[in-house]
This record gives sequence, C-alpha cells and structure tokens, in this order.
Amino acid sequence: MTKTLLVTGGAGYIGSHVVVELVRAGYCPVIVDNFCNSSPRAIQRVEHLVGQAIPVVRADVRDSTAMLRVFKDAQDSGQPISGVIHLAGLKAVGESVTKPLTYYENNVYGTVKLLDAMDQAGVASIVFSSSATIYGAPEHLPYTEGHRVSPVNPYGHSKAICEQVLKDWSICGGGRRAVALRYFNPIGADHSGLIGEDPRGVPNNLFPYITQVAVGRRQYLTLHGNDYKTPDGTGVRDYIHVTDLAVGHVRAVEFTQNQQGFTAVNLGTGQGTSVLQLVEAFEKATGQQILCKIGPRRQGDIAGAWADVSLARELLGWKAQRTITEMCADGWRWQSMNPEGYGQEV
Ligand code: NAD
Ligand code: UFG
Repeated sequence: MTKTLLVTGGAGYIGSHVVVELVRAGYCPVIVDNFCNSSPRAIQRVEHLVGQAIPVVRADVRDSTAMLRVFKDAQDSGQPISGVIHLAGLKAVGESVTKPLTYYENNVYGTVKLLDAMDQAGVASIVFSSSATIYGAPEHLPYTEGHRVSPVNPYGHSKAICEQVLKDWSICGGGRRAVALRYFNPIGADHSGLIGEDPRGVPNNLFPYITQVAVGRRQYLTLHGNDYKTPDGTGVRDYIHVTDLAVGHVRAVEFTQNQQGFTAVNLGTGQGTSVLQLVEAFEKATGQQILCKIGPRRQGDIAGAWADVSLARELLGWKAQRTITEMCADGWRWQSMNPEGYGQEV
C-alpha cells in the first residue's frame, strides 16, 4: 500500500519541494497549511508538476480539533497517515526578536500540539525542520551534530526547544521516533521553474534578494560587510539546492522506519560559498548583472557557517548532488518565469 504522509507547511518554499519529491518517490502526501506565509497557488503548481491532485487542508497545526480530524479522515478513507513531516513554522530571524512570543507560540506550542494530536491518532514518526542557526557562533567548522547548541535569537531558540521536546517525546517509548533535519542555506527552485521561493515584502535572505535584483524588483544588493576574516571579506555559507534538501526528507522518512528515539542530522553540502562568490556564480549561470553596494555588517551575523555532512551520508544514505551553478540557474528560472512570485492569492 502507498504510504500516506502528513506534510505541515506543505505550501511553503521548502514544503512544496518536499511534496514533489515525496510523490516522485511514490508516497501520498497530505498537506496541512494555514497559508500565513504562502499561497494556495503553490499547491496548484505542485499538482501540475506531479500530474495528480494533492489533498490539502487549510488548518493551523495548533488547532487540535482540526488536526485530529485530518488524522481520522485519512484513517476512515483507508489511507492512514503513517508519519508526519513538520515544516510549518515562522522563520524570520529579525521578526522573532521583536515578536518572540509569536515565535514560541507558533513554533514551540505548534509542535507540542501536533505531537499530542499524533499521540491521540497513534502516529509515532516525525521528521522536523530544524536549522543550523541553533548552533550559534561556531566553536569549530564544519559544524558537526555534536557542536554546542547555542542559538542567539528567539527563532533559533524556538527550534532548539522543539528539538528538546522531540527528544523527550521520542524516548518515552511506544515506537516513537523523531528526526530533526538541521538545514543550512536552501536556495534555488525545482528545475521546472514552476515552484520556488516567494518571500513576502523585502527578502531577508541573500538568494531571493539577488534574484529580485536580477528581475528588476530591487535596484541593487547590499553586501552586509566585506571585512570578515574570510577569503574575500564577505560572509560564507553552505548553500544547498532545495531539491536536494527535499530528497533528504524522503531519505529521513525511510530512516525513521528502522529507528527509535531521536536523531539530529545536518543537511548541507559541506562546501562554503561567500556572498561575492554566489553573486559571481549567479551572473555566470544566468548572464544577469547584479549591482552590489557595500554596507555595514548585519547585526547577529557570523563570518562563516558550513556543515559536516558525514552523518547524513552514513545514516540517511544521502548526499547533496546539485552544484552552485544549478542552484543559480534553477532559482533564476523560477524568478524569471514568475517575476512577482505566485502573485495574489486565489
Ligand atoms: P515558508 O514560510 O515558506 O513555509 C512555512 C509554511 O508553514 C508556510 O506555508 C506557512 O503558511 C505555514 N505555517 C506557518 N505556521 C503555521 C501553522 N501554525 N499552522 C499551519 N501552517 C503554518 O518557510 P520555508 O522556508 O519553507 O521553511 C519551512 C521550515 O523550515 C520552517 O519551519 C523553517 O523554520 C525551517 N527552516 C527554513 C530555512 C530556510 O532558509 N528557508 C532554514 C532552516 C530551517
Ligand atoms: N547577505 C548580504 N546581503 C543581503 C542578505 C544577506 O550580504 O541582502 C549576506 C549575509 O550577511 C550572510 C549571507 O549573505 O553573510 C547569507 O545570509 P542569509 O540571510 O541568506 O542566510 P543566513 O545564513 O544569515 O540565515 C539563513 C536563515 C536562517 C537559518 C540559516 C541557516 O535566515 O533562519 O540560514 O539555515 F537559520
């Protein structure tokens, strides 16, 4: 029987790519999303891309009644949910500093309520969207999963607390199991250009800023500092193609089938790329010019961050495949085909 998986936040940037890769791998995803940071159009595009309808429920993961109904409906239809991929959450670091309670309520309370609904429905397996941000300032690079957890903002704390909640939940038996995937910097888009990242307002992150400059929505890119102790002075990060990241979720689901308790795994490429190197790679891959201006450092930024990816390889049998050039070309295909993203909600 085809396995049915619940994907919370499945209309979002990463979630939509996860849904596509789940279908490609033969799973039946069911999406729950409250669309607080996404558009139903993303799901229409996913359906077009995979050539089948995807069940979607507009609900908040904190709404126990709605969540229990999702599990029960699946059970009653003869396609019980066998596991959950939990991507629903808020992710803007700056906003989390000004609205900490909103972040703890959505991310932490949302995860607690979801686990409670899973317990009531007898669903014991969860894959969780964590973040490299939980490591904080690097004691050593690359970050291994054993690196100290020391977040520096409420968003990072909310993810670290969720990991602790998942650890405690998973070790209380009953076959419970949880995998926290610590994402590095997902960029790019599905090769089709049909789905991609569509930030609301001014992008916080580098890559969507670059693509919006290229498409004419922004005049220039501000380099947040060029005096770091890095080869060219700009910040270095571990950019990973969002499709590789999505495939990592499929591998994590497979891993949970033979595992007990809690496991945290980095998902990155293991390679560092500076801001200037990414701009250069984008220009080369797309033929677009990106006007850059040097600005001051961004508060809270670190010079460099990249992953040790050996555990992902060992436990999940997963390794990122796509190059920076492919990340740039695919991300540009999405942005140039959809200059305004998904546009207005239908
Ligand atoms: P996104 O905002 O595009 O997707 C999140 C989705 O969750 C959205 O569709 C939103 O509407 C939905 N959502 C939020 N709160 C909800 C709730 N209470 N109930 C139901 N739906 C809700 O973000 P993304 O970039 O796709 O990130 C997905 C996950 O990965 C998030 O948990 C984020 O914190 C984590 N993450 C993202 C990155 C990144 O760079 N994008 C890095 C590390 C971790
Ligand atoms: N940068 C610029 N100009 C911009 C935006 C970013 O120079 O307009 C620089 C930053 O200073 C940094 C690099 O580009 O050196 C990457 O910045 P991002 O904001 O794209 O990524 P971060 O690594 O700072 O953070 C992101 C998410 C976090 C997540 C982390 C690790 O915002 O939530 O990746 O996954 F935790």
